[in-house]
Amino acid sequence: MSGDALGQDPAELRRRIDTTKAHPARVYDVLLGGKDNYPVDRNAAAAALAANPRGYLDVRHNRDFLRRAVTAVAAEGGIRQFLDIGTGLPTQENVHQIAQRITPDARVVYVDNDPVVLAHARALLTSGPEGRTDYIDADFREPKQILEQAVETLDFTQPVALVLVAILHFVEDADAYPIVRGLVDTLPSGSRLVLSHLTEDLNAEDIRAVQRTFTERGFTFVLRSRAEVERFFTENGLILDEPGVVPAHHWRPDGDAPAPETADPAFLATLDAVDKVRYLDISDVTDADINVYVATGVKP
Ligand SMILES: C[S@@+](CC[C@H](N)C(=O)[O-])C[C@H]1O[C@@H](n2cnc3c(N)ncnc32)[C@H](O)[C@@H]1O
Repeated sequence: MSGDALGQDPAELRRRIDTTKAHPARVYDVLLGGKDNYPVDRNAAAAALAANPRGYLDVRHNRDFLRRAVTAVAAEGGIRQFLDIGTGLPTQENVHQIAQRITPDARVVYVDNDPVVLAHARALLTSGPEGRTDYIDADFREPKQILEQAVETLDFTQPVALVLVAILHFVEDADAYPIVRGLVDTLPSGSRLVLSHLTEDLNAEDIRAVQRTFTERGFTFVLRSRAEVERFFTENGLILDEPGVVPAHHWRPDGDAPAPETADPAFLATLDAVDKVRYLDISDVTDADINVYVATGVKP
């Protein structure tokens, strides 16, 4: 869906945007310090932060894993094509901006099922002149539709990185495992899987408290163990890259996470927990904070 095809009927788009219920993309945007969200999403983020005041570290370190992993598969794996399913709302550093810094001709297809992401998708179609980006308004559970549209931009005879970062906890096992298998099966040798996933292996009490705040709001919120996360790789014939499945902040840390916005301490003191998030440094993370497993793997 490029160029004018993004020009949705505004009335139809408005009809699809439900501002009475929190939505994953928008709550995640709140916790990243973004502005593309509604009061109901802020309330959900506030509830999650009340349940786990350091929970913003899961979100911010997950996003920083995405930066490091896309950089690694582009720089070391030579990947020039990305299929990013569960893209989220545009931020300053989207997959194409990260990848095209390394390979200016990188092609990226973004996929999300949230109408607010669609409404902001033009910010994702800002490829450099040598590369290309596209946006598909589709559900992960409709992989046939995704692949049919993705071939317009990606060449599936050449390696592709399938990016499934912080999406699979919204999908039950019955869909998650077979759909990832089907997607990996379509990729040629040399392709990569870039994956992150919430878990209760690490700090169970904190993440279960957060899980409750989301399930109360009707979210599917499946926490998976290390073995269950590894299955997405091993069951599909993928070889895990070093360092394997690890907590997000342990995956090839490079100390280059974007610095937070700065603010006067007197102003900061006036902010609530949600508004403060964008000003918080994430470098004070400890093992007691993180509930996200991450990994990349290669198709031999
Ligand atoms: C937590 S955000 C992660 C965004 C981004 N991948 C990142 O990690 O920074 C999850 C995204 O997955 C999307 N999502 C959830 N379920 C989906 C589904 N069934 N199909 C497509 N997108 C989905 C949400 O709309 C949201 O944008």
